[in-house]
Parts: sequence; C-alpha cells; structure tokens
Amino acid sequence: MLSKITVVGAGNVGATAAQRLAEKELARTVVLVDVIEGVPQGKALDQWQSAPIEGFDTRVVGANDYGPAAGSELVVVTAGIARKPGMSRDDLVRTNADIVKQVAQQIKQHCSKAIVVVVSNPLDVMCWVTKQVTGFPRERVIGMAGVLDTARYRTFLAEALDVSVQDIQAMVLGGHGDTMVPLISYTTVSGIPVTQLLDKTRLDKIVDRTRNGGAEIVAFLKTGSAYYAPSSATAQMVESIVLDQKRLLPCAAWLEGEYGLSGMYCGVPCKLGKSGLEQVVEVELTAEERSALRKSADAVKQTMAAVTL
Ligand code: NAI
Ligand code: 2OP
Repeated sequence: MLSKITVVGAGNVGATAAQRLAEKELARTVVLVDVIEGVPQGKALDQWQSAPIEGFDTRVVGANDYGPAAGSELVVVTAGIARKPGMSRDDLVRTNADIVKQVAQQIKQHCSKAIVVVVSNPLDVMCWVTKQVTGFPRERVIGMAGVLDTARYRTFLAEALDVSVQDIQAMVLGGHGDTMVPLISYTTVSGIPVTQLLDKTRLDKIVDRTRNGGAEIVAFLKTGSAYYAPSSATAQMVESIVLDQKRLLPCAAWLEGEYGLSGMYCGVPCKLGKSGLEQVVEVELTAEERSALRKSADAVKQTMAAVTL
C-alpha cells in the first residue's frame, strides 16, 4: 500500500477511478483534485462514507489545490474536456494540452517523485506533454488506453464465442484512436488461436467495433464518454505498480527505438512494477500488424504537431 495517490480531475473517470483505488486499498489516502469548487470535496466525502459499508480503510479527500496532494507517490491525470460541437480535433488537443501542462507543472512542483498514469485525451499526446513538462523519465510517465481497448476487444470476442471473458487473451497496441492495432496473431482463447474459432469476416467486424468502442459509448450517453471500463483499466495499471505485480499490459510508453519508433508515445506491451514502466516488451508482428502500427504512430505524430510546448 502506498501512502498517498492523487487523482487529478474529479469528473466521471477521475471520481470513479478514485473510488476503485480506495476500495482496493492501494493507498492510505486518495486525494481527488479538481478546479471546480466543492466537487472534489463532495465526491471524496461521499466515497469515504461508503468505506464502512464496503469495508476499506483508505481515506478519500478532495481539494482545489495541490497542498493535500504533496508528496503523492502516484498521480493519475484525468483532467480535461470532451470535444464540443463546433470544436475541431486540433482545438480539443490544444485546450487539453493547456490543462495537462498546468497539471504537470503542479505535479512537478508538489509530487516530484511520483509515477504518473495519464488518462486525458488525446492520450498519447497528453502523455508526451506530461513527460516534457515534468521532465520525469519514461519509467514514471505511462498512459492508459491499451488496457481499455483490449478489454473492449476481449468483451466482444467473448460475446461472439459465448465463452468467459477471462479465457480471452489479447493485446491492442498503437495510438488510442481509430488506428489502434488489435493483434489477431496473439489473440487466443485459453491458448487456442482465435483464427481457429472465428472466421475473418467476424473477426474483422470485432476489430472494427473495438476501434470504435469509445464512439459507441458516446453515441449512447450523448453528454459524455465512457468511464466505468476506463477507470477499471486505470486501477489495474495502478495496482500492478503499487503491488509490484509486474503485469504485462498494453500501455502508452515513450519509445526509444522499440518497434522502430522513437520520440513519441504509443501503445506497446509494458511490464508494470514498483518502478513504473519496467520494460517495453518487443514481440514479433506480422507484416500487416507492423504496417498498421506504423500508420497508427503516424496519426499520433500528426496530433503532436498541433501542440506547441
Ligand atoms: P469529465 O468532463 O467528466 O471530467 C474532467 C474533469 O477535469 C472535470 O471535472 C474538470 O473540472 C476537470 N478539470 C479541468 N481542468 C482541470 C484542471 N486544470 N485541473 C484539475 N481538474 C481539471 O471527463 P471524463 O469523462 O472524466 O474524462 C476525462 C478525460 O479522460 C477526458 O480527456 C477523456 O477524453 C479522457 N478519457 C480517456 C480514456 C483513455 O482510454 N485514455 C478513456 C476515457 C476518458
Ligand atoms: C474512450 O475510448 C473516450 O477515450 C475514451 O472511451
């Protein structure tokens, strides 16, 4: 158990993530920080009052400044806005980059030794902004997207095959967007290659649905985006770090030549333990997967170009 974890952004993803971290007792204190007066305080108090019923001893506190967050060993960044009508993708990138820059400066000042798990979108670019502004090494700035995208892929496969989600092993790599790369060559059902169980047409449909997994939820909710699965994915990464589980999970990592990519964040298989990102694991890809990963990386680079640091 850590002494303190801070979650920045007390919106849908941040507040739900804080609750999951508290219920798992991953820290003695979980601090929820947001710019809206009263919201982090109210949500934190409400969550703490669930402790006697849920049976956890983590104290959840809310704040509008970083005083209570000082010295946090791990920080989750969920601050940002969703795209609004009339806003281009580049407008969103610039707005969220400004928010994440401010947050990263505060993290550098108040939590200089923290491991940072970034969630804010566009994910791969916000990871880069966080790394540049904090100056933290790549081991300490990791992005959440692949665990969520893979969970969606596993869910759809389990539904198509009518088997337990627990028996689907898979990884989705690449940037967090519609160019993401579900690795069919490494998708198995209790060790059986998925290609032996589903034909190409059905698999292609599932890959497509995975790539549009976020948009499918937005189309239902209309006023926001997904947060139950995103907060679960975030908590799984945090748990692997805090408990030094050394899980091998698809995460956005700063690449230094792995998969032929460098100077950018992109989703790749990562080992997460007490030092944060402990290893980027390189696996062989088919020619098709390699080319899809390159295309996805190009899309991330294009979005990076919209941001001035
Ligand atoms: P939300 O709108 O419910 O919450 C965002 C919160 O950030 C708001 O409470 C807002 O007041 C706060 N905020 C804004 N500026 C801030 C600042 N400077 N400091 C502290 N807090 C600030 O949005 P939601 O649904 O929680 O999503 C949060 C972010 O996570 C979005 O960018 C969203 O696109 C992204 N996301 C990423 C996923 C991924 O797979 N990486 C999955 C789901 C969401
Ligand atoms: C998602 O994939 C919006 O990135 C978010 O649900």
